[in-house]
Amino acid sequence: MKPTAKPKISNFSSGPCAKRPGYKLENLSKALLGRSHRSSPGKARLAKSIEETRRILGIPSDYLVGIVPASDTGAMEMSLWSMLGPKPVDVFYWESFGKEWADDIEKQLKLPNTRVFKADYGKLPDLKQADFSHDVVFVWNGTTSGVKIPNGDWIPDNRDGLAICDATSAVYAMTVPWKKLDVITFSWQKVLGGEAAHGILVLSPRAVKRLESYTPPWPLPKIFRMAKKGEIMKEIFEGSTINTPSMLCNEDYLDALAWADSIGGLDGLMKRSNANLAAFEKFVDSHSWIHFLASDKVIRSNTSVCFSIDLTEEQVKAFVKLLDKEDVAHDCGAYKNAPPGLRFWCGATVETSDIELLLPWLEWAYEEVKKSQ
Ligand SMILES: Cc1ncc(COP(=O)(O)O)c(C=O)c1O
Repeated sequence: MKPTAKPKISNFSSGPCAKRPGYKLENLSKALLGRSHRSSPGKARLAKSIEETRRILGIPSDYLVGIVPASDTGAMEMSLWSMLGPKPVDVFYWESFGKEWADDIEKQLKLPNTRVFKADYGKLPDLKQADFSHDVVFVWNGTTSGVKIPNGDWIPDNRDGLAICDATSAVYAMTVPWKKLDVITFSWQKVLGGEAAHGILVLSPRAVKRLESYTPPWPLPKIFRMAKKGEIMKEIFEGSTINTPSMLCNEDYLDALAWADSIGGLDGLMKRSNANLAAFEKFVDSHSWIHFLASDKVIRSNTSVCFSIDLTEEQVKAFVKLLDKEDVAHDCGAYKNAPPGLRFWCGATVETSDIELLLPWLEWAYEEVKKSQ
């Protein structure tokens, strides 16, 4: 039978992700619009984003936190281009975004001493193969396969190389072991449902040392440059961004951070996201036609939750279209390079009650698609 109740918010995209509950544009009225981002109030708003990011995430006091151009991609690529070269590189990937970084390293930077470790969608490569006398590059959560790294135990504390981690769909939803990582990047559009455009770059003292002691042999565009004359450009990490940021996006991020704080900070965010995954787990347990792409629970993402279903590729497309048409789930098809299936964002901004209202629709859509094709 066709369900009647629909999710109140049917946005399940994995980026840009659903806005926080209670989101209103009016909440951004404090945005410093039409003023310079380099004015004292402008710099103060940007610095507030940095301070609140550090406080809510518990980033160590000796790590730098900066707002950088071009979202997570910008933060990652400025790091790869600025820091890689002096050591061999180990890259681990198990889905599309990790592969992009491997391609950057092999095909764009053309670094000769690169080892690539990969695994299929739904699996994790053997992280113990990492040699930390090399630089090691990986994503924390594979957004397009729904496979996450379970912990940082495989990363030694006394490493020589840098652990460079794209953590965009993990930060604010998973425990990130900061001290095990040297470069951590993420964007505002993911777990907090902020606006895209800007990235956050977090650097350990070891990463800063690399920037201050190494100059890559290739040219660096201005928006990638973080050091001058052997010294880190500290001001980037205090609110003086490299180029002009959107003060509206910044205000939107501050609004999301204030909401995160109001629900118990990082613990509250993780609880909400885990409850969303648990709602799906209960459903999968009792329905034989739907499967997690990550069959191993230990590596299963609680943000980008990916499924295969017992339908043909064409039927999966019809299934996704039907949910969209019924206004019960938008943007829930698997990523273009991933195996055909479904992906529902389960980060903290999604209400568990909306997932519970969605689940009967999945059952209904499955029967409808099977009937018609
Ligand atoms: C793991 C990962 N890395 C990089 C990106 C690209 O992010 P952005 O568009 O913020 O640059 C995404 C986007 O979904 C992602 O999931």
